Amino acid sequence: MKHYSFDNVICRKGTNCSKLRALQMLYGRTDLIPLWVADMDFATPPFILDALRARLEHPILGYTCIDEDYWPALIDWQRQLHGWDIQKEWISFVPGVIRGLGFALQVFTKPGDLIITQPPVYHMFKHVIEGNGRVIVDNPLIRMEDGRYDMDFDQLATVAEGAKMLVLCNPHNPSGRCWPKETLQRLADFCAEHNILVVSDEIHADIALYSAKHVPFASVSEAARNNSITFGAPTKTFNCAGVVSSWTVVPNKELRERFFTWLVANEIDCPPMFSPTVAIAAYRHGAEWRKEMLRYIEGNIDFVVDYCQEHIPGIIAQRPEASFLIWLDCRALELSHDELNHLFVDEAHLALNDGEMFGAGGEGFMRLNVGVPRKVLEQALKQLAEAVAKLPSTQS
Ligand SMILES: Cc1ncc(COP(=O)(O)O)c(C=O)c1O
Repeated sequence: MKHYSFDNVICRKGTNCSKLRALQMLYGRTDLIPLWVADMDFATPPFILDALRARLEHPILGYTCIDEDYWPALIDWQRQLHGWDIQKEWISFVPGVIRGLGFALQVFTKPGDLIITQPPVYHMFKHVIEGNGRVIVDNPLIRMEDGRYDMDFDQLATVAEGAKMLVLCNPHNPSGRCWPKETLQRLADFCAEHNILVVSDEIHADIALYSAKHVPFASVSEAARNNSITFGAPTKTFNCAGVVSSWTVVPNKELRERFFTWLVANEIDCPPMFSPTVAIAAYRHGAEWRKEMLRYIEGNIDFVVDYCQEHIPGIIAQRPEASFLIWLDCRALELSHDELNHLFVDEAHLALNDGEMFGAGGEGFMRLNVGVPRKVLEQALKQLAEAVAKLPSTQS
C-alpha cells in the first residue's frame, strides 16, 4: 500500500538551498529549473523530521555522547539491504563523504602522490585530490554498446605504476552503474597486488534501481576487505544532506588504526548531535519510504527515457542502475561544449551538470537529476524538446 507522496512541489526559496543560490554565479541567470546538485526536491521523510523535532523538544543542546543505537542501526541496515557484515569497531563518523576522502588522502598519501580515478566521475574527486596537492591519474571507463560503462583493466595496468590510491565510485556517478561483483573482485586483486589503497565512495548504495543490486566493495573478497576504506551515508537516500551524517568502514586493523587515530586526534569522529538522530531514524524506520521513493524515481526515469525517444531526437537517456541521476547522451546533436550549454541554459532554461565537468568521456553528455516531482520533470522535458526542435540541425 502506498503511504508517501512525492508529487508535492515544495518551494525551497529562503532556505539557502544550494541548487538555487548558486544559479546566478554558475549559469548567469536564475530563470532556470534546477536539475543539477544531487539532492532531491522531495520532503525529507517525516520519521526523520519527527526525530529531529523530538530532540528539539528538550531545551538543552549541550555536549552529547553518541547514541548507542547509531552503529547497530547501520550494521543491521547493511546486513539486511546489502548482505554486508560489518563490525562496530570498523566504523567511524565522518563529516561528509568528500571530506572523508580528503582525510584519507591526508593520512595515507603525500603531496605529489599519484591517485587513480575512473572518469567520467563525480567531479569533487578531482577537486579534493588536486586541492590536496596530489596528482590524478586517469583510468577512463569504457562505454559499452548498450550505453553502460565498464572498467578498463588493460589501460589500468599501463597507468598504475607507483599509484598510491584508487578512488572508486560504487555505484558510479554520473553513469549510474552498479559495479558487478566480478569487476570489483578483479579490481581488488589488481590493487592489492600493486599496493594501491582503494577508497570506495558508496553514497549511492541504497539507491539501486529496477533489478540492479549494489555490491559493497569491501564484501567481495579478502583482498578487498583488507585493502579498502569505504564511505557512505543515509543523506542521499533520505534527502537530508544538509545535516551531514556520513560514516566510514575500515575492516583492516592496521589501516583502521592509522586512520582512526588521526580522526580521533582531530575530533573528527565526534558527530554533531543531529547526525546520529538522522541516521538512526533513516536506518530503523526508512525501509518502506526508500522503496516507495525508488519506485517513484524509476517512474521518473521511465518517463524521461520514453519522452526522449519520442520527442527529443538526438538525446538518448540511459537508464541508470542506481541513483536519481540520468546521464544524457547528447552527442548526436553535434554541438560544441558551449553550444550544448547554451541550448540547455539559455534556450531550454534548465540547469543541469554539463558532462565535461566529470572529466574525460563526459564530452557531449549532460547529467539530469530526476529527484523531483513528475510535473517538474514534464515541464523541463517540454522546454528541452522545444529548444531542440529550434536547432537548425533538427529542422528539415
Ligand atoms: C558520488 C558522490 N560522492 C559524494 C557526494 C557528496 O557527499 P557528501 O556531501 O557526504 O560529501 C556526492 C554528492 O553528490 C556524490 O554523488
